Amino acid sequence: MNSTHPLLLVQDLEKSYKGTGKVLDGITFSLNPREVKVIIGSSGGGKSTLLQCINLLSPYDRGKVFLDGVLVTEKNKNVCRQEIGYVFQHFNLFAHLTALDNVTLGPTTAKGVPPGEAGKTARELLEKVGLGDKMFNYPAELSGGQKQRLGIARALGMKPKLILFDEPTSALDPELIGEVLTIMKDLAMEGMTMLIVTHEMSFAQAVATEILFIEKGRIVEQGPPRQFSNPVHERTRQFLHMIEDQ
Ligand SMILES: Nc1ncnc2c1ncn2[C@@H]1O[C@H](COP(=O)(O)OP(=O)(O)OP(=O)(O)O)[C@@H](O)[C@H]1O
Ligand SMILES: [Mg+2]
Repeated sequence: MNSTHPLLLVQDLEKSYKGTGKVLDGITFSLNPREVKVIIGSSGGGKSTLLQCINLLSPYDRGKVFLDGVLVTEKNKNVCRQEIGYVFQHFNLFAHLTALDNVTLGPTTAKGVPPGEAGKTARELLEKVGLGDKMFNYPAELSGGQKQRLGIARALGMKPKLILFDEPTSALDPELIGEVLTIMKDLAMEGMTMLIVTHEMSFAQAVATEILFIEKGRIVEQGPPRQFSNPVHERTRQFLHMIEDQ
């Protein structure tokens, strides 16, 4: 395998659901190792669908997704998913498992990591996200910010090549958002490759290598964060004004 391909290549992706028009209408972009791309856009524009299509949680109609140069297909999707972390808006934690077991489950069952080793890694990750004192608590016993930090630790437990974040802070009370963004900033500094749907624009300005504005399943504008201080497209301006006012 050569080293010139991007870590993630999304090529001309198209998707409709039953009874919808095109929810993704020709999305193309790539993500190099250590890059952090932020996706913004109005509700219903296709952001979550795009993330779901990348690891085939949702099938698409046309186009291709390559992970590290390998086409993601029905046959290899489970292997690919092990390399793509996913952090959800509503956490999707395993309610019946402790924080520690939430992090060890994937590595032990899907990757065959010995329990002792998985436990050691999980404890380190929980310390890293500030949950060292919550290892034996269940998700219901955690605050929203703690739940999402656990969601991030769980994704990291699989040692993924990249992590997809779908509005990781939008279900949190305002005072809990910062603690999750801090962890994500740290990951970016460490060189984790990330694709993040978020409307936290100051975070995006600080951390993103590029921002993509998506509407009606198309990329309307993409560029470095500074471009989004003074966008080229009128529609991008309107959107940014709208989210500023919220
Ligand atoms: N399972 C589904 N079946 C049918 N239509 C769907 C399904 N999931 C999403 N859609 C439709 O696809 C479009 C894109 O939805 P998607 O969830 O990707 O948008 P989004 O950009 O993530 O929006 P939000 O900001 O509200 O999360 C919407 O019109 C939505 O109603
Ligand atoms: Mg969404």
